[in-house]
Amino acid sequence: MTVSHARPGIVHHLPPDHHGRNLRADVRAGLTGSPKTLPPKWFYDKNGSDLFERITELPEYYPTRAEREVLTNHADSIAAAGPAETLIELGSGSSRKTPLLLNALKKSGPLRRYVAVDVSDSALLEAGEELSTAFPDVDLQAVAADFETQLHLLPHQGATMVAFLGGTIGNMEPEARARFLHHIRELLLPTGGSLLLGTGLITSPDVLIPAYDDAAGVTADFNRNVLRVLNTELGADFDVEAFEHVAVWNPEQEWIEMRLRASRPMQVHLPGISLDVRFEEGEELRTEISAKFRASGITAELEAAQLNTVGQWTDEQNRYALTLAEVK
Ligand code: SAH
Ligand code: TRP
Repeated sequence: MTVSHARPGIVHHLPPDHHGRNLRADVRAGLTGSPKTLPPKWFYDKNGSDLFERITELPEYYPTRAEREVLTNHADSIAAAGPAETLIELGSGSSRKTPLLLNALKKSGPLRRYVAVDVSDSALLEAGEELSTAFPDVDLQAVAADFETQLHLLPHQGATMVAFLGGTIGNMEPEARARFLHHIRELLLPTGGSLLLGTGLITSPDVLIPAYDDAAGVTADFNRNVLRVLNTELGADFDVEAFEHVAVWNPEQEWIEMRLRASRPMQVHLPGISLDVRFEEGEELRTEISAKFRASGITAELEAAQLNTVGQWTDEQNRYALTLAEVK
């Protein structure tokens, strides 16, 4: 499949009814399971993407600042270790940190294009506008696609660096991560190249938990937004405010779990999938995990996908790592 670069247009690889069809299947599976769950990609409608941007500016949410610090200090070394003609960024969101990488890649070699991949149209459009002003000589492509199922649709255009920032890989469970890394390898194989992976590191729960449960309640609002999405898209009647935001550190799995706890018994109707669901008082719906890693664990997971670590950089406080790995 070829991708044109109409600017600031978006190339859609998501079928027109992707949202509808996948959302219905995901919600049915998640709400009829026990415990109830919902997959995280449905957080990101326009309101969800805006709320996530606000999260990145919260005093408690350190990952964005830590990742920016690593890029500010080390982007030149990263680019020197992984020169590329094409930078593909998965789950690019607002692409706010990407200029640090683009500038370094321009210095180190023949960077020609930047491909932003996200499920959120609104994020892609806003990012495209900002970047086209800052990088007039880089070919910018915005691709609406699901990075868990559609990597094979992305174009192969010369030596490539795939960037996956923001700690988003931690939102996948271990088996999904392994599958995903395997797909990344397949994406890189024809042209060669590298993966730049951003991961939160394990740190004190006193630091971790507030990052996912801030004092101003922005994260709580973001978490509840998934219920608003279901109300809008499936005609559901969730009483959104009757669900309380819960963030707990799971020390066995080494991930933060985000949940929504029903503050009273509720019967919820979802006409869009002809489903009625009951919540008991105190029942928790799991909406998201955010796994944290050890440096050695990251390298081992990459190795298992035949991706060879060539460099790893962390922030001063050792809370966040960027790892660069090459296809073997
Ligand atoms: N990389 C940015 C944004 C991280 S938030 C940063 O570091 O700040 C996660 C982003 O991934 C959101 O923009 C969301 O819309 C996108 N996303 C989540 N699941 C996705 C999926 N399955 N496919 C593509 N994009 C996805
Ligand atoms: N990728 C982000 C992270 O794991 C996503 C995120 C941040 C998030 N805060 C959240 C997801 C709160 C759900 C709820 O840090």
